[in-house]
Amino acid sequence: MSAQLPACQLLERYYGQAAQLWPVAPPEDAWLLSHSTAMVSDSLALRQQWQANERLALSPFSPVEAPPTDQVVLFWPKTHQLGMWWLSWLCHVLPANTPIDIVGEHQGGVKRVPKVLSGLGMVCDKLDNARRCSLFATRTVEMESPDSAWETFDALDMRLVSHPGVFGHGKVDEGTQLLLQALEETLPKKTLKVLDMGCGDGIISAWLAKRGHMVTAVDVSAFAAEACRRTLHENELEGTVLQSDVYSALEGERFDVIISNPPFHQERDISYGPSTRLIEGASSHLKAKGRLIIVANAFLPYTELFERSFGHFETLVDNRRFRVYLGSVNTH
Ligand SMILES: C[S@@+](CC[C@H](N)C(=O)[O-])C[C@H]1O[C@@H](n2cnc3c(N)ncnc32)[C@H](O)[C@@H]1O
Repeated sequence: MSAQLPACQLLERYYGQAAQLWPVAPPEDAWLLSHSTAMVSDSLALRQQWQANERLALSPFSPVEAPPTDQVVLFWPKTHQLGMWWLSWLCHVLPANTPIDIVGEHQGGVKRVPKVLSGLGMVCDKLDNARRCSLFATRTVEMESPDSAWETFDALDMRLVSHPGVFGHGKVDEGTQLLLQALEETLPKKTLKVLDMGCGDGIISAWLAKRGHMVTAVDVSAFAAEACRRTLHENELEGTVLQSDVYSALEGERFDVIISNPPFHQERDISYGPSTRLIEGASSHLKAKGRLIIVANAFLPYTELFERSFGHFETLVDNRRFRVYLGSVNTH
């Protein structure tokens, strides 16, 4: 089997078929999986994929019990601040002088890595360059805990806590704002059991909890789940926050309403996988007369999925760029 993604193809060409890697923040690639012993990722879905193949898979919030014996490879993310965070995390959790290679696509900003490393007082050697990707080598240095990357900002009368790589870092998304306006008019003024699917920094969860609803928030990303927890705490609000690949952590749970500004990107590509699972699985996670309310870019093809799953749907708001859709159980 050969690597599919350009950055993994560069690794395959450089390390060869004998490669034994310890990828950090990796993408999904079967060659990479078969050439790694362990990995670290904020994504629960990816960690579950590695675990299903009997690999050790760590979250950045779990302790690294034994230093890696295989080559650590950091996949440089397109969010520069997140790359900086992973670097300082690696320096913090691994012994000083541990070799780390860094790979990434040129259009994802990897060419900035030598400057970043020099700014942090870390060595940098260029190892290879192909498929519009580069591979650099460095070594860890002693560094303070990366906890300082958490940031707070105020929006909609709430204090939001965010982290590099979490959706909406430092601003309120236009779609989310439209969704909240629609919810203000649509939700009854009584306590509901609500699921916020893909909670990001927790803006929707905090907004709902502030209005007295019992909130469960889920996100596939450990950074997002932790951001949401911190947002609820910062606003003295209650809620259950779980890492979950769509409904994977919600076996047997049913809600009055499921609310989402669902994801439609994976890395740089459009991916309808999670939003399709969200809409198709909604009826099995809603009580009788339960409702699914989502906001989506107007060009996204969700209406057919609503038709198929609920038999009908309503468009609550349409501002040409975004639409808010509602599907109800048992009302047709
Ligand atoms: C468009 S953002 C919305 C964030 C936040 N609710 C807001 O409105 O600002 C979509 C969120 O879905 C999360 N997500 C992506 N794939 C997911 C999956 N498979 N399961 C659960 N959440 C997922 C992303 O991490 C991201 O936080």
